[in-house]
Amino acid sequence: MSKEIKTIGVLTSGGDAPGMNAAIRAVVRKAISNGVAVKGIKKGYMGILNEEFIDMDQKSVADIIQKGGTILGTARCLEFKEPDVQKYGAEICRKHGIDAIVVIGGDGSYRGARDLSERGIPCVGIPGTIDNDIACCDYTIGYDTAMNTVMDMVDRIRDTTESHDRCSIVEVMGRNAGYIALWTGVANGAEDILLPEKYDYNEQELINNIVRSRKRGKTHHIIVNAEGIGHSTSMAKRIEAATGIETRATILGHLQRGGSPTCKDRVYASLMGAYAVDLLAKGESNRVVIEDDGKITDLDRQVKFELVPAYYEPYERRSSLYEDSGRIRIPSGCFSLAFGISKKRQQGKIPDVYILGCQCIEHHRQLHPHLR
Ligand code: ADP
Ligand code: F6P
Repeated sequence: MSKEIKTIGVLTSGGDAPGMNAAIRAVVRKAISNGVAVKGIKKGYMGILNEEFIDMDQKSVADIIQKGGTILGTARCLEFKEPDVQKYGAEICRKHGIDAIVVIGGDGSYRGARDLSERGIPCVGIPGTIDNDIACCDYTIGYDTAMNTVMDMVDRIRDTTESHDRCSIVEVMGRNAGYIALWTGVANGAEDILLPEKYDYNEQELINNIVRSRKRGKTHHIIVNAEGIGHSTSMAKRIEAATGIETRATILGHLQRGGSPTCKDRVYASLMGAYAVDLLAKGESNRVVIEDDGKITDLDRQVKFELVPAYYEPYERRSSLYEDSGRIRIPSGCFSLAFGISKKRQQGKIPDVYILGCQCIEHHRQLHPHLR
């Protein structure tokens, strides 16, 4: 540990995500084993302003690795966007002897971390959000758990959809990003997957696909719809009116944010927590911990933001996120997808194109010879 950092703070901010507790635990235990004291900051940046700090020791993080949510609580503290408030926040940290902070959250939380770093409180960010919408980082804490939860829920919905010969639209979270929808849609064998990065709002095409599929003898139809598109209930009504097929919408909502973290989320969160403490010990500031091809490493936060910005750009630009991906709104049993290309591309790496198993893979190879 560097001499000047005697106490670090740890906070969770933005939407909670399963695995945040594992990260808190790793931060606390790694710091303590390095002889550094840890203060838990309650409810994100709000806790700094309200001076809600708790001294943490080995025991205070016992028995939490398996728990969803965050023992520190989280909040959205909009006033922290104001420069005067950030300055005040940095002063409070100094007053309480907090020399540096580990911020666990999404890209909004990272901006708060940047602002505190610029005001003399070194911060390191750990990606915590179920949305996986942080650029240059293929993994965020909570994403794996949320996807497994969704996958289980959609399997259940398929059971009843099949029994009733229905069409079901399942709306999943992800804010403006389609990662949860894409991965669970594939994992659940959804007949259609609607992604904000790709969907062209051609509902007639969607309806045609349902009708075609029914004519081929398919008795039920699952559509995974990302919340970035939303409007699942009205969409269901329009589909039922146009096709005569009973259609139901299920909005999975906040159940996707809870639950015990998966093995992957526990392990990666633990590795990232320890890594963040090491970064601060080396005197680093304003950096973000990432997972890259299975390796835990870090990036300069500024670089990250220059590289971002799929989600802050207009729809036309965003649609390039999955470019070359063939169809995302997938005709039954026949699809090709380019996975993971956007983030790699942002890092200047050659995109990998994966073709996922499908019944008509040869057909798609003919349609998209440029895809491997
Ligand atoms: P996430 O971190 O999951 O993206 P939010 O976007 O809600 O979630 O951000 C979480 C918190 O981070 C906000 O409530 C606020 O306290 C802080 N924050 C967000 N944007 C900024 C910003 N531009 N400047 C400073 N702090 C910010
Ligand atoms: O960022 C996580 C997330 O669950 C998003 O998927 C969703 O859009 C948002 O948070 C919901 O926020 P809230 O919990 O404030 O309703």
